[in-house]
Amino acid sequence: MGKIIELNEALANQIAAGEVVERPATVVKELVENSIDAGSSKIIINVEEAGLRLIEVIDNGLGLEKEDVALALRRHATSKIKDSADLFRIRTLGFRGEALPSIASVSQMTIETSTAEEESGTKLVAKGGNIETLEPLAKRVGTKISVANLFYNTPARLKYIKSLQAELSHITDIINRLSLAHPEISFTLVNEGKEFLKTAGNGDLRQVIAAIYGIGTAKKMRQIKGSDLDFELTGYVSLPELTRANRNYITILINGRFIKNFLLNRAILEGYGNRLMVGRFPFAILSIKIDPTLADVNVHPTKQEVRLSKERELMALISKAID
Ligand SMILES: Nc1ncnc2c1ncn2[C@@H]1O[C@H](COP(=O)(O)OP(=O)(O)OP(=O)(O)O)[C@@H](O)[C@H]1O
Ligand SMILES: [Mg+2]
Repeated sequence: MGKIIELNEALANQIAAGEVVERPATVVKELVENSIDAGSSKIIINVEEAGLRLIEVIDNGLGLEKEDVALALRRHATSKIKDSADLFRIRTLGFRGEALPSIASVSQMTIETSTAEEESGTKLVAKGGNIETLEPLAKRVGTKISVANLFYNTPARLKYIKSLQAELSHITDIINRLSLAHPEISFTLVNEGKEFLKTAGNGDLRQVIAAIYGIGTAKKMRQIKGSDLDFELTGYVSLPELTRANRNYITILINGRFIKNFLLNRAILEGYGNRLMVGRFPFAILSIKIDPTLADVNVHPTKQEVRLSKERELMALISKAID
């Protein structure tokens, strides 16, 4: 008799969650990115105990149709791509169909959702990825997803989380960057019932910068612009007098997705030339628009890295815009 068995779906999802759901802030990021992809103009995020007890994301986006709600918890189920050609022209933040099944497998998840077209909404309750109830709900267009008791069934992962304070600051960091990426969306972050951040959602990036870093900082930032045949660059960078001791205040966005990229960071510093002191880093928000076929987002499980064609060219464009 052979020794190999196929794992059941709940277990397979839990294994995938090990990669996809590192910590509460990852859950926040995935849920809010789904709300952004759903075309929301208003997103409210509630957390308790740094997201371990509760993460709740409420949006006013398109909602899920009745027949899609249970499917959204299945692995590789997505409305965002259809074939491999789509994989090379991704315009949404999500595309893998992995986030919800992974998160659901390590938490107690409730989805309440309605579309504009259907007469009633749908409520789904799942525990450890297994659906417990699926029932109709009074209509309220948009989606509310609650993730309670994250990692309740994966004790090793729970132990790895050492400080609630540190987890909360990861969550704040994620929401700050998503707000900077989408000044046209109003974000509200509430922690233990207290409002941490609220952005207006009126499209004014300088106002978002002020809401996050304070008015004093916003006043010391100047707008930059640049473009060539492949890239369009807009953003704000701080005057050389306003710096920090680390890179955390640099946000690089490619087609609305914030990414980590060492070379593009370096291009920013090169743009300042010798106007920055050694070991000091500016505040910067750079939003880069690029033809999706020039950016491969399918290189890292958390989608935080993008492989760019013509990276050198982009570096030069950034340095020149800041110079
Ligand atoms: N807030 C939401 N509003 C509307 N639809 C949603 C929302 N959240 C999830 N969905 C639907 O559920 C599907 C599954 O979500 P999930 O996050 O698992 O996958 P994805 O976003 O397609 O890809 P990725 O794993 O890269 O995030 C989405 O493709 C989308 O159709
Ligand atoms: Mg998603």
